[in-house]
Amino acid sequence: MSGITVFASGTGSNFQALVAAGLPVHFLVCDQPHAPVVALAQAAGIATFTLNYRDYADKTAAEAAIVAAVPASDLIVLAGYMRLLGPTLLAAWPNRIINLHPALLPSFPGRAGIADALAYGVKITGVTVHLVDAGLDSGRILAQAAVPIEAGDTEATLAPKIHAVEHRLLPATVAAILKGDLAL
Ligand code: GRF
Repeated sequence: MSGITVFASGTGSNFQALVAAGLPVHFLVCDQPHAPVVALAQAAGIATFTLNYRDYADKTAAEAAIVAAVPASDLIVLAGYMRLLGPTLLAAWPNRIINLHPALLPSFPGRAGIADALAYGVKITGVTVHLVDAGLDSGRILAQAAVPIEAGDTEATLAPKIHAVEHRLLPATVAAILKGDLAL
């Protein structure tokens, strides 16, 4: 087995959950060089490629730089990577890229899954792990877990409940994929 590469843009709590679960995370790609996830990777001794897309001629050039930097990987895990992948990344790892989304897809895709579910007034939301394709949060669903929305919940109270479920569901799903129990 060669390992998992994680793509992340921010806090990195899901990156940390994968590492803490003992999964073979061997590389991080981060498009926000000052994001806290970079320090987490450093502390864990995990090699990192940070880039600023603005330093490249276009998205294709930025994605080509990522492809060149990432070591051979069994699986690419997008854990809070706040960009749509273009054809260069999708073609580099066909059917091997998964994403974590903080809502029950196909409801509430996009950047604000937690807030959108609250605003709509659903009573149950949750977490989805899915394959990545060229669409927005549209690939085949691999795993989901529900989170009830309780009376009085706000984004500040709901978000930690969502994240707690993410920290269990993502490592469990990745482990099942690596074991061959969950086919991509
Ligand atoms: C998670 O809620 C994930 O579902 C969303 O971005 C967030 C990343 O959080 N796509 P973290 O950086 O892993 O803490």
